[in-house]
Amino acid sequence: MSGQELSEVLSISRSAVWKHMNELKKSGYEVEAVTNRGYRIINVPEALSEDAIRWGLETKWLGSTLHYHPTVTSTQNLAHEFARDGAEHGTVVIASEQTKGKGRMKRYWDSKANVGLWFSTVLRPHSLEPKNATQITLVAAVALANVMKEYGIPVSIKWPNDLFIGDKKMAGILTEMQAEQDQIDYIIIGIGLNVNHEEADFGSAVLEHATSLKVYTQDHYNLNTLFKSIAHEFEVQYERFIEHGFKPIKSDWEGYAYKMGEWLTVRAQGEWNAKLIGIHEDGALKVVDEKGQEHLLYSAEILW
Ligand code: BTN
Repeated sequence: MSGQELSEVLSISRSAVWKHMNELKKSGYEVEAVTNRGYRIINVPEALSEDAIRWGLETKWLGSTLHYHPTVTSTQNLAHEFARDGAEHGTVVIASEQTKGKGRMKRYWDSKANVGLWFSTVLRPHSLEPKNATQITLVAAVALANVMKEYGIPVSIKWPNDLFIGDKKMAGILTEMQAEQDQIDYIIIGIGLNVNHEEADFGSAVLEHATSLKVYTQDHYNLNTLFKSIAHEFEVQYERFIEHGFKPIKSDWEGYAYKMGEWLTVRAQGEWNAKLIGIHEDGALKVVDEKGQEHLLYSAEILW
């Protein structure tokens, strides 16, 4: 946009436009200025910020309301507060750092500053029955896996919510729901993605089981850009799910499934060996035991 147009639209002088451009550059925006043509933003800053996320966010509703905080206890807790106060469908809470990140099964989720994406989204899927809420976790997992595939990262999904590179976890999804008996009030989908961690950012015990995009590719990723790709794909997959049901998601999920067709140890009322054969229409994990008997697991853990 030309400096003239900017000064007219914003009702400020040309020299004020120039000053603002310098401010943008100072905060990490890469701005190209071409004589007689104007200014163009080429790159957003590394550090997460509300402006840098909004710039070029190609979603219709996901992230229309966006709360960015440098540090929070947990974006998940904050998203619950917003949802209780009536936050609209698609509201996103995102932070550079979480001091009390939550994982599944009340585990701690390590969320160091500026190395990962830590965000929670409020969803209000009124047409979805509470018993099918697990499906949303799988929708989010497929969306994340699709983005990773676009970035050239070979990921698999470990039921119900872990993204793996090889045998190491690089992302997790936490789904929490507030519902009446037959009506969902809201769902909070929390996504934690290890992005720019170096090996030293993980403790040695954690490093055995965890990885980041940077550890795997040696490349550094712009968190704002990566968030925007995920938000866009999540919206696309969510709308596909609402419009066409779980079937297409189920088949994509099975295409990404970690150790599909292999024998694993599962923890579900004791520990036993099971072969993973797919997922059920309602999102449950389908396995067979050593006697050939089929089981549907709704709340289980696949052991390492
Ligand atoms: C898991 O794999 O156990 C789920 C991890 C989910 C972590 C994310 S980070 C953003 C959101 N806020 C939290 O406190 N947890 C989720």
